[in-house]
Amino acid sequence: MADLSVEFAGIKSPNPFWLASAPPTDKAYNVERAYEAGWGGVVWKTLGEDPAAVNVSSRYSATYDHNGEVAGFNNIELITDRSLEINLREIEAVKKSWPDRALVVSLMVPCEEEAWKKIVKQVEQTGADGLELNFGCPHGMPERGMGAAVGQVPEYVEMVTRWCKMYSSMPVIVKLTPNITDIRFSAQAAKRGGADAVSLINTINSITGIDLDQMAARPIVDGKSTHGGYCGPAVKPIALNMVSEIARDPETAGLPISGIGGIGNWRDAAEFISLGSGSVQVCTAAMIYGFRIVEEMKSGLSNWMDSKGYEKITDFQGLAIPNTTDWKYLNMNYKVVADIDEDKCIGCGRCYIACEDTSHQAINKTERADGSVAFEVIEDKCVGCNLCQITCPVDQCIKMEQKEADKPYMNWTQDPRNPYKDAS
Ligand SMILES: Cc1cc2nc3c(=O)[nH]c(=O)nc-3n(C[C@H](O)[C@H](O)[C@H](O)COP(=O)(O)O)c2cc1C
Ligand code: SF4
Ligand code: SF4
Repeated sequence: MADLSVEFAGIKSPNPFWLASAPPTDKAYNVERAYEAGWGGVVWKTLGEDPAAVNVSSRYSATYDHNGEVAGFNNIELITDRSLEINLREIEAVKKSWPDRALVVSLMVPCEEEAWKKIVKQVEQTGADGLELNFGCPHGMPERGMGAAVGQVPEYVEMVTRWCKMYSSMPVIVKLTPNITDIRFSAQAAKRGGADAVSLINTINSITGIDLDQMAARPIVDGKSTHGGYCGPAVKPIALNMVSEIARDPETAGLPISGIGGIGNWRDAAEFISLGSGSVQVCTAAMIYGFRIVEEMKSGLSNWMDSKGYEKITDFQGLAIPNTTDWKYLNMNYKVVADIDEDKCIGCGRCYIACEDTSHQAINKTERADGSVAFEVIEDKCVGCNLCQITCPVDQCIKMEQKEADKPYMNWTQDPRNPYKDAS
C-alpha cells in the first residue's frame, strides 16, 4: 500500500491532506474532530491582535452548477473572532494531544515589526509546527492595511517574511493572494524574505450575483453588500495555473508549495501534487460535505498510487511540471482530428451546431434513408480544436485521433511561418 506521509518544509504529516485556515480550523473542537476523521494537518484559522475581529451577518453566498451542487463559494468573513489568548491555549493543548499531526498557525497583524515579533514568539511557545502568513484576505482586512494589502506589494511580502524568520525558528509558509497580475513576483519576494514555503491560493475577489429585488450583491447585510473571496471548485483551474507558474519559475523552482483551491477529492489533490505541491489544503469541500471526505481522499489517492506503481508522494510530485511549458514550445506538427463513433452517437446535433456556428464547419450532416441524421467529421477541415468533443453529451462518443504522427517536433521558434523566427 502506498505511503501517503509527507514532510513539508520540515513539517511531518501522515498524509498530504490539510484543512486550510478557515472556519473548519477555527477552534479546538473542530480541529480535534478533523484529526479524528483522518486529516493529516490543519492550518489554524488566522489569528490576529486583540481585540478580536467582529463579523457581520450574513457572510456567505455561492454559485451552483446544473445539478445544484456548489460550484463556487464566496465569503465576507474576517480572521478569527475569538481572543488570541483562547486560541493560543487551545493550539497548545491540541498539539500536545495530537503530536503526529501537522498544526500550522495562520497569522495576520498590522505591517509593523513589533506586532509580528510579538505574535510569532507567542505562537512559538505553543509548540505548533509552523507559521502561515496570511497575505491574502481580500476583504475587510486590506482596508486596515493587512491581508491582500500586504500580499499585493512584493516589497511588503519580503519584509514581513524576513521579520518572521528573524524572530522565530519555525518554518514559515507564506500564503499568497491570487488578486495580483503575476503570482511569480509575490512568490519570489517570499523566497527572498526567507520563506520556507508558499501556499496558494487564498480567495479571489468576487461578487457571486445580484439580488434583483433588493438590488444588492449577495450576501446581503441590511440591504448592502461588499465583494467577497471566491473559492471552491470554480477556482481550481486558476489555482493550478498559479501553482505551475511558481513551480516552473527558475527563481522559485523547488520552493515547497502547499496547493489550495477547489480541492474536493483525491484526483484534485493528485493534480496539485503533480504540479509540484508537497501538501494540499481544503476549505470549501470540508465546509459543504464535512470532515469525512478525507476518508475517500486518502483511500482514492492510495489506490491510484498503487495502480500506477507510485510508492510515496514524492514519486509523482512535480511530474507534470516539465510538460507544462510556454505556448511557443508546443509542437506545431502535432495534429489531431475529431472522430465520431456512429454507434454511440444519439444524433442530438450539438457537435454540428458548435462546429458550424463557431468553429470550422468541419462536420457534415446527412439524412439517412430512414429519416435519421448522421454526423461525420470532414478530416481536411477539422483543426482539432476539441469543441465538438467538449459539447457532446455522450461519453467517449467523439475521440480525438492523432494524424501525421511521423512528422518531427517543430515549435514556433523553429517554424518557417513565424515572421520573427530568428528573433524568438
Ligand atoms: C469562510 C471562509 C473563511 C476563510 N478564512 C480564512 C482565513 O481566516 N485565513 C486564510 O488564510 N484563509 C481563509 N480562507 C481561505 C481558505 O483558507 C482557502 O484559501 C480558500 O477557501 C481556497 O480553498 P478552497 O477552494 O478549498 O475553499 C477562508 C475561506 C472561507 C470560505
Ligand atoms: S475538433 Fe473542432 S474543427 Fe474539428 S470537428 Fe470538432 S469542432 Fe469542428
Ligand atoms: S454531439 Fe455527440 S451525440 Fe450529439 S450528434 Fe454530435 S457526436 Fe452525436
